[in-house]
Amino acid sequence: MSLLSIQNLVKRFGALTATDHVSLAVERGQIHALIGPNGAGKSTLVHLISGLLPADGGSLTLDGTELIHLAPHQRVAAGLARCFQITSIFPQLTVAENLLLAVQAQGRNSFRSFHVRDDDPALLQQAWALAQRVQLQGRWNDVAGTLPHGAQRKLDVALAIAAQPKLLLLDEPMAGMGPVESSEMVALIQQLRASSPDMAILLIEHDMDAVFQLADCITVLVYGKVLAQGSAAQIQADPRVQAVYLGQEDEGDASIPEAQEGAA
Ligand SMILES: Nc1ncnc2c1ncn2[C@@H]1O[C@H](COP(=O)(O)OP(=O)(O)OP(=O)(O)O)[C@@H](O)[C@H]1O
Ligand SMILES: [Mg+2]
Repeated sequence: MSLLSIQNLVKRFGALTATDHVSLAVERGQIHALIGPNGAGKSTLVHLISGLLPADGGSLTLDGTELIHLAPHQRVAAGLARCFQITSIFPQLTVAENLLLAVQAQGRNSFRSFHVRDDDPALLQQAWALAQRVQLQGRWNDVAGTLPHGAQRKLDVALAIAAQPKLLLLDEPMAGMGPVESSEMVALIQQLRASSPDMAILLIEHDMDAVFQLADCITVLVYGKVLAQGSAAQIQADPRVQAVYLGQEDEGDASIPEAQEGAA
């Protein structure tokens, strides 16, 4: 049984079918990338998985639990975590305080109402372990809002993985990053996989170098439909995928680059 199994998922916005009978599976421990041109329906699919948007049809199971009728916080309890692109960090609190809140909130719906407890050695140890996993030990006492963009993204990832999810949803984790920060994020995701081999990641990313370095499996969405699925090498060699991306050449960020040595 796949960890995440999506079958015939449908989402309509008026006359537009943004998710058109999408079926895909994410296996345990897999890094599965979702790519496709602008407007293909990638974010919509992530919102359907997280429960931010209700589906119009289809099924969605995580580790055997049907999610389709569950509220977002119930999906979190079922093992789903999502990075919210920095909006979930508390900018006025330190890195340590942010991580302590995330650790304290484990198993609960929200950590908005908590007071930071910095007197419990077990909580402190868990928060420190999270800081280590995203390489923010050196930023422990820094105020989160003053961190560089890349470090804030790392903190956001740390908050998402605090509850040890089975599946982590990452929607464009490299967006707005320069090459140095992007390669740090790639290294971070590789390290997450090494330290949590059972956690699967569904990664949406326009940075094709990052996708080809990280993904075990790639699904290409076009106009809400699955166009192709396979390894990085299979996707790069697929004439249908090339045709879609060649049509997008003017948009700069959507071209499929040459395969890197060893990327597949
Ligand atoms: N809330 C909404 N109401 C109406 N239409 C929407 C809504 N959200 C998305 N859409 C439309 O659904 C389609 C898919 O959008 P979506 O944001 O999922 O694409 P995407 O693949 O994430 O694109 P990008 O790469 O630009 O982030 C687009 O045509 C978009 O305009
Ligand atoms: Mg999007």
